Formats: sequence, structure tokens, C-alpha cells
Amino acid sequence: MENKQFTPTDVITHICGYWTTQAVYVVSRLGVCDHLKESPKTAGQLAKLTNTNPEALYRVMRAVASIGYLIEADGRKFSLGPLGEFLKSDHPATMRSFVNMHGDSWHWDAWGKLLDSVKTGKSGVEINSGMELFEFLKREPENTQTFSDTMSNLSRRVAPVIADAYPIAGDVTIVDVGGATGALLAEFLNKNTKAKGVLFDLPEVIAVAKTSPGLSSVKGRIRFEEGSFFEKIPSEGDIYLMKYILHDRDDSRASKILGTLRTSVPKSSKILIVEQLIQKDPGPEDRSRFVDLEMLAVTPGGRERTEQDFRNLLDAAGLSLNKIVPTKSPFFVLEVTV
Ligand SMILES: C[S@@+](CC[C@H](N)C(=O)[O-])C[C@H]1O[C@@H](n2cnc3c(N)ncnc32)[C@H](O)[C@@H]1O
Repeated sequence: MENKQFTPTDVITHICGYWTTQAVYVVSRLGVCDHLKESPKTAGQLAKLTNTNPEALYRVMRAVASIGYLIEADGRKFSLGPLGEFLKSDHPATMRSFVNMHGDSWHWDAWGKLLDSVKTGKSGVEINSGMELFEFLKREPENTQTFSDTMSNLSRRVAPVIADAYPIAGDVTIVDVGGATGALLAEFLNKNTKAKGVLFDLPEVIAVAKTSPGLSSVKGRIRFEEGSFFEKIPSEGDIYLMKYILHDRDDSRASKILGTLRTSVPKSSKILIVEQLIQKDPGPEDRSRFVDLEMLAVTPGGRERTEQDFRNLLDAAGLSLNKIVPTKSPFFVLEVTV
């Protein structure tokens, strides 16, 4: 940052970021890239397929073509651009649910309340709906599906480097606490064919996970368990994964989850808390300070934390932090025992 020459154009780029969000969202939500999978199509044909206004759809597609999602040819004909590949539902590295969730009205409107969040300390979801995030998601199965698939989109990208950084060998049981559709658990089980898994999450999320294509290769080795980590956590684990769980909660709720862990899990087990850490000097790729704002806008008191914040939380819960393992990603693995 120190040597960068800033200009007013940087301000325009920052403040108009939402133009891109909404334009890419429209193309993603309408499934335009799925429609273009087999062959190029005109904006008129796509408007018929998506039941939209042809002129308005053309203008959005022309804009996202200018940033690499689509390619425009003569006659308003479009094919997939390199970024459009990631908006196909069946691409192995699909980001379609991630895009859909960020543009969906509940999430969009929560960010629209950031100023009120700063005034009140409440999340935008709570201000808008009167409910905390997971209570709100439960009310609408489509939102639960999109949220859980968003977690898969994100976790699948980093799961290989997390599993490389902390190899788990032998005939062990790995419990993924709040594992959503199990992207991280599947990665560990694919790497260790002797291991078994337990995927633990809320009932509405387990219903989604049971039909998740990402688990097909390890399905025979996974047991699904519904429940709340504020009440109990399955006790048969040798290893417990907790990725992006504590960052969803304020210190008091995070402490309750750690308290349930302490009373539920065997003394010999290892708990792997997988989180980003706020670093003193963020590199140019470090987005944790903005992920922290996502937590402010959406979650019940969630936040990104520094290493010291985690040490304080774990100390207060009577848990021991053995080591912190970096990964080739923004995530760190905090190895904890009871
Ligand atoms: C931010 S997501 C992280 C998902 C997954 N660990 C990952 O990183 O991809 C938080 C997860 O915690 C789950 N969750 C929220 N409240 C829960 C509760 N009370 N008991 C169990 N799981 C819960 C959510 O359903 C969601 O799957």
C-alpha cells in the first residue's frame, strides 16, 4: 500500500463495486451460463428461456461480457467467457451459489443496513427480519440450500490445502461440527480411505447434505447427525473439524460452543479449529478485514479474530491450544485439546 499512487479513480472503483455484484448476480441467478453450456445463444433466445425482458437482459449481458464472464459476438450472440465457466452449476469449481447468495435480497439488504449495524451493533439480518441468521435461514428452505451450497463453493477451494497442511492418518473417526454439506470432511476422507466421518449440523442442513453430490465418493463412510452444538456434539470422534464456526458468533456464544465441546468430546481427541486470523500487516490478498464486515452484516455477533483473540477464548473455555498450523490459503488450523 505504502508506495501505491492513489487517484480518484480508485474511489470510483471501490464505490461502484456493487454494480458488478448485481450484474453478475442477475446472470448467475437466471442460470444464463447453464443455458450457454452446449452452444452460444442470442440475448433474445436467452430472454425467452429465462422469462425476462430481452433488451434489459442484453444490457446486463453486454456489461458482464466486458469483464470476462461472457463473450459477445455479432447479432447479440453470447458464449461463455472464462469467468462464466464458474457460474455453471456443474463446474467442479462452481461459484454459482456463492454469487447467488450475495445478490439474494436477504443478504443484499443486510449489507444495505451496514450503517445501522455500526450504530446499533446488530446484524443487518437481525435489523431486517428480527431473527438471527440461522433462525432466519431455517424459515426458507431455498435460503438454507443456497447458504449451504455457498459454504461448499468456498470450502472446496481450500479443502485440499487444509488437508495437506494437517494430514490425518489411520483408522480414525472425523467429526465435522457444523460441516454444512461436508466439503472439508469429504476431502479428509478421500485422502484417508481408512477413516470414517460424522457430519453434524442443524436438521435442515443435514437434509440438504444428504443429497449433496460432493459426498457421493465417501457416502458409505459417513454418518449424518442432526443437532445443535449449543446442546451436544457427537462423542465418538478422534478428530473434530470446526471450520468457520466460531467466526459466526460473538465471544459469549463462541464460549458456549467451546463449553459443549469440552463436555462432549473424548480427552484423547484433537479439535481442529479452522479459521482465518486477522494479521497485523495484511498482504494485498488478505480479505479477512472484509470477511469480518460480512460477519458484522449477517451473523449474530460473529467476527474475524486475531491469534490472541483465539488464545483468550480457548483459555477461558479451559481448552489447550497445542499449535497453529498455517496452510497455503488464508486459513490456519488451530490444534486444540480438552
Ligand atoms: C459458516 S458455516 C460453515 C460450514 C462449514 N464448516 C464450512 O466451513 O464450509 C456455519 C455452519 O454452522 C452450522 N450451524 C449453525 N448453527 C448451528 C448449531 N446450533 N448447531 C450445529 N450447526 C450449526 C450452519 O448450519 C452452517 O453449516
